[in-house]
Amino acid sequence: MIDQYGRTISYLRLSVTELCNLRCRYCMPEDGICKKDHSEMLTEDEMICAVKAAAFLGIHKLRITGGEPLVKKNILSICERAAAVPGIEDVCITTNGTLLPGLAEGLKAAGVKRINISLDTLDEEKYRYITRRGHFDEALAGIEAAVAAGFDKIKINAVLIGGFNDDEIPRMAELTVKYPVDVRFIELMPMYDSGEFGPSAYVPGQKVLDILPQLSETPQDGGVARLYHLPGAQGNIGLINPLSRHFCGSCNRIRITADGQIKPCLHREAEYSIKGMDEEQMIAQIKKAVAAKPEWHGDLSSEHRSHAGRNMNQIGG
Ligand code: GTP
Ligand code: 5AD
Ligand code: SF4
Repeated sequence: MIDQYGRTISYLRLSVTELCNLRCRYCMPEDGICKKDHSEMLTEDEMICAVKAAAFLGIHKLRITGGEPLVKKNILSICERAAAVPGIEDVCITTNGTLLPGLAEGLKAAGVKRINISLDTLDEEKYRYITRRGHFDEALAGIEAAVAAGFDKIKINAVLIGGFNDDEIPRMAELTVKYPVDVRFIELMPMYDSGEFGPSAYVPGQKVLDILPQLSETPQDGGVARLYHLPGAQGNIGLINPLSRHFCGSCNRIRITADGQIKPCLHREAEYSIKGMDEEQMIAQIKKAVAAKPEWHGDLSSEHRSHAGRNMNQIGG
């Protein structure tokens, strides 16, 4: 599929649940979310039907997101069935990692090739603060389980938060020396309800380059991160700069939320429902959504506001 701005759409981010076992402060409210009725959410069969519809239209990369996808009881079955859809070449998952010790091997066997793990700090107390309930040890055990399971690629996602973790940039970057992983620093995006994190918490990705002058340029992989390398490291450092250097011009993705809405853009309100539809109807909706994909996500910085109309856990990043 090629949209009206000439971008080839080949990547689907499918959120399988809004629920999460953590409550990251920049992502969702403390009391979680008002749990929607089961009947409003996509069933496993509808998710697979959506993947088939997307693959028919030329999607070949699938990323499973959440909420936290690993709290979903049938996650292995979803991954296995999605990986078997003709045309889907790459199934990846984005997770907070805490449930990976019990699931990493199963995910690998189900056909998941690459895994991205969110980790914003290496400090136990700060981890508990930012996630409002998590244990750092569990996240670290998750990373180690992923490394042991032998995924093709593991990336650590760290959201940069001024006054919280900007002092940890060198330590976090060192993870690429210790483990065969990439570490990506992400500029904080203002979401529908970003809680306490207003404009003052925003740290531009450039700060990482200022703090780590030893970073060198390295071949790019075509993803949203600008890649660099630390001397002696096993993996790369990535900068994901949606505010200071947005990448909408090369956006190749659409999203489907757990309640069955196609979102042509992360930060726009427009949604196209596929709930209750068959494959043919879903194909028509995906075409409509791609035709309506905006040129860019709009100005997030001046008002420090996204127009997504949802929190991050209800979209999947
Ligand atoms: P790769 O397949 O490894 O390239 O994954 P990814 O970077 O596409 O996915 P991931 O779930 O790890 O997302 C990393 C960060 O990039 C998250 O903070 C996402 O919210 C953000 N992100 C991903 N896609 C987009 C996008 O289209 N627009 C914006 N603004 N941010 C995005
Ligand atoms: N800004 C930037 N990244 C965010 N994520 C969640 N909320 C935000 C936000 N407001 C990240 C998570 C996860 C990915 C899916 O999105 O840390 O790694
Ligand atoms: Fe859960 Fe991820 Fe949101 Fe944290 S960022 S609350 S781990 S969905």
